[in-house]
Amino acid sequence: MKNTRAALLRRPLLFAPALLVLPAHAQAPRTPAQMEGPYYPQAIPADADADLLQVAGQPRPARGIPLLLTGLVRGPDGAGLAGARIEIWQADAQGIYLHPRDARLDQRDAGFQGYGRAVADGAGRYAFRTIRPGLYPGRTPHIHLRAQPAGGGAALTTQIYFPGEPRNETDGLLRSMPPAARALLIARVSAVDGGQRAEFDLFLA
Ligand SMILES: [Fe+2]
Repeated sequence: MKNTRAALLRRPLLFAPALLVLPAHAQAPRTPAQMEGPYYPQAIPADADADLLQVAGQPRPARGIPLLLTGLVRGPDGAGLAGARIEIWQADAQGIYLHPRDARLDQRDAGFQGYGRAVADGAGRYAFRTIRPGLYPGRTPHIHLRAQPAGGGAALTTQIYFPGEPRNETDGLLRSMPPAARALLIARVSAVDGGQRAEFDLFLA
């Protein structure tokens, strides 16, 4: 690796537990659902792993600001859900989705995977390597997410937002929610070597 992303790209996808362990509290508010939207992939790409920065067969990584997305999936009793399945899908750095409905599909970044899957570890932790999603008309930046407990159970579909984005104030979908619910969909973002980290915990009903 010879660019500024080197450190982030090398970092293991799961972290030391101390970084993510939070006290279990059964009364935690459930993560609000949001619409799936029109861009869930029509066909799951051949490379659908948790590293969206690297596409199998593509010589270069994704364009954009690298983002390490991590969190904990909890069940109704507050305990981490081992083996929960998580999917994300999002726009590339230019705001283009991996979907034939996107009018700019021919301009999308072939080095960005656009969709990925992860399985939570034994403590319910998940991690993806992706980018900060680009803007597209009518929305504030967001990452679509779906989570389901291991072995089935009700899936949660929602969207992850970023703090401090000016368009958060005018996004119809985000503004349609009460402030307390809205706050639950905004990730905690920090700078890390080579990019950013976003933490987003999920509480499934
Ligand atoms: Fe979207």
